[in-house]
Amino acid sequence: MSKKRVVYEGKAKILYEGPEPGTLIQYFKDDATAFNAQKKAVLDGKGVLNNRISEFMMTRLGAVGIPTHFIRRLNMREQLIKKVEIIPLEVVVRNIAAGTLSKRLGIEEGQVLPRPMVEFYFKDDALGDPLVTEEHIAAFGWAGPQEYDDLISLALRVNDFMSGLFAAVGIRLVDFKLEFGRYFEGDSEMPRILLADEISPDSCRLWDFDTGEKLDKDRFRRDLGGVTEAYAEVARRLGIIKESG
Ligand code: C5P
Repeated sequence: MSKKRVVYEGKAKILYEGPEPGTLIQYFKDDATAFNAQKKAVLDGKGVLNNRISEFMMTRLGAVGIPTHFIRRLNMREQLIKKVEIIPLEVVVRNIAAGTLSKRLGIEEGQVLPRPMVEFYFKDDALGDPLVTEEHIAAFGWAGPQEYDDLISLALRVNDFMSGLFAAVGIRLVDFKLEFGRYFEGDSEMPRILLADEISPDSCRLWDFDTGEKLDKDRFRRDLGGVTEAYAEVARRLGIIKESG
């Protein structure tokens, strides 16, 4: 593990000071948490898989013009990223009803939504990351009006691209969560919005097209077992690793 100064420690990741100004090192832990950290476990190898899967997604998204914080992977568990000011919103895109959408609105899990749905949650563990509206976001200044529009269009572009990428390997992208940050380049006062954090089976719902088998963190949330095996299967199908396990 890096001996650098810890800038932030989250549930599944640690951010260290980077080697150059404006950079950070993102370290992927094996810790898994769910239900706002009420449920915890250590899943051997999860961090290694998420580092690789997130690298893959960020690189592919970068290649189709989505600006991201990813610079390069450093080793099994660490990647170099651009330091951003995180926008305090979790941007969730849903294609199929599941999770809190099903629970909150009584929509049956698995129902295909008429169109992709974008939701915003205020990032606040103490409040349990509540669902918020555009009015809240504007009133409390969490994102400006232009930023709000950008977040929606970026999230939908990510959804289009990732839906295709997963469909090509027999996986349905049910829903996922993104985080974005403001990046101040050089002396510029106008920040650019970059896709930040991670994209991995911790932050997506992924179902096998044929069997409906869950290949994501719901295996942990629902005590289904085989969590890292499922993440490895995702990595294997995407061609990131050769063998499962
Ligand atoms: O729980 P919910 O149905 O709202 O989650 C929607 C999507 O966002 C899921 O893919 C879930 O894994 C992800 N999510 C996340 N981090 C959170 C909340 C949700 O990655 N704090």
